Amino acid sequence: MRIKLLFSLIFTSVLIIFTGCQNSQPTPTPTATPTMAPEPTEYPYADLDAATFAANERLGRGINLGNSLEGPREGAWGLYLQSSYFEDIAAAGFDSVRIPIRWSTYADIEAPYTIDTQILERVDWAIEQAYANDLNVIINVHHFEAIMQQPETQTERLAAIWTQISERYQDYPDTLYFEILNEPNENLNADLWNEIFPPSLAAIRETNPERYVIIGPDSWNNVDRLPTLTLPEDDRHIIGTFHFYSPHKFTHQNAPFNESGLENKDLTWGTDEEVAALIDDFDTALAWSENEKRPLFIGEFGVFYDAPEESRILWLATVREEAEKRGYSWSVWDFGTDFAIYNLPRKQWREPFLEALIPES
Ligand code: BGC
Repeated sequence: MRIKLLFSLIFTSVLIIFTGCQNSQPTPTPTATPTMAPEPTEYPYADLDAATFAANERLGRGINLGNSLEGPREGAWGLYLQSSYFEDIAAAGFDSVRIPIRWSTYADIEAPYTIDTQILERVDWAIEQAYANDLNVIINVHHFEAIMQQPETQTERLAAIWTQISERYQDYPDTLYFEILNEPNENLNADLWNEIFPPSLAAIRETNPERYVIIGPDSWNNVDRLPTLTLPEDDRHIIGTFHFYSPHKFTHQNAPFNESGLENKDLTWGTDEEVAALIDDFDTALAWSENEKRPLFIGEFGVFYDAPEESRILWLATVREEAEKRGYSWSVWDFGTDFAIYNLPRKQWREPFLEALIPES
C-alpha cells in the first residue's frame, strides 16, 4: 500500500513538473509579431536619368548625312561632305547631324584592327564642322555587313573599333554621341546582340565613362523589338533608338535597292487607319521608354523621293509631330540623296519637306 502511495506521489510530481515545463513555454499569439513593411528602396538614378533625358532633348531635330561616309567610299553613293552643308543644316534650324560611317572598310581585318588614319581625320573634320555650327553630332558604325552574317566572329573587331574611336574622342564635349551599331539584322538576332554590344560598350566606357551612347534593337532597329534589348541597369548614359519606315511598302516604293519596292508605285498614305497604326507604334515605344526610364531617339525615318509628294509631306509631318509629343528626338533620313530633304545640285532645301520637319523654317 505504501509502495503504491509512493508510486502515485512520484507519478503526480513528475506530471506536475512536466506540465509546468510545458506551461513555461511562451504561448504564441496570432498577432504576436507584426510584419514590418519593407523599407521603400529609393530609385538611385533619378538625377542621372534626368540628365540623359536632357541630353536626348538636346539632339532634338536632326538630319542624317546619309550615303556619304557609310558608302563604299565617300562620294560613291552621291554625297561628298562640304562645310556649307553643315552651315545650311544649322541655318534651317536643325539641332543635330547623324553621321553614318562604314568603319569596317577602314579597319584591319586582324587584331588589333587598326583604323586607317585618313578616315579618322575625315571624321575629325566632319565633327569640327558640326561643332563650328553648334550642331550636336552622332557617329555610328554603319553597314558592318560581316557582323550581320557572322556575328560571333566580329564581336572583338567591333569592340576594337570602338576602343580606337573612344580613345580619339574621349576629350570631346558631350555634344558628341556614339551609336554602337546601325540596324542589327540577319544573323545578328536579339540574343546575340545582347551578348555582342556589351564588349563594345565596355570599350567605350574605359575612356568615356559618361559619353551618351545610343543603342537600338535587332531586326533593323524595329520599334517592336525594343523590349528584347537587355541594357545594363547601372549604365544610365544610354539613349534607346528605333528606326521608323512604316508602312515600308509606302516609304520604300519604287526604291531600286529594295526589290519588293519596285512593285509599288504611286502609293499614298494618310487614312485614319494608317495614322492610328503609326500612333500605336509610337505608344509601344513610349511604354518601353517609361518602363526602362530611358529616352528615345528615332535615328532614321524617311520616304523615298519617288513617293507622291503630298503623302510624303504628310507622313514626315506626322512622324515629327507624334515623336515630339512623346519627347523623342529624331533624325530624318536623309540630307541629300534618295530620301532627300535638300537639293544638292541647287544647294537649297526642298521647302515643303523642310517645312514638314521644321515648321518655323
Ligand atoms: C541605309 C540606307 C537606306 C535607308 C533607308 C539606311 O539605314 O543605310 O542605305 O537608304 O536606311 O532604307
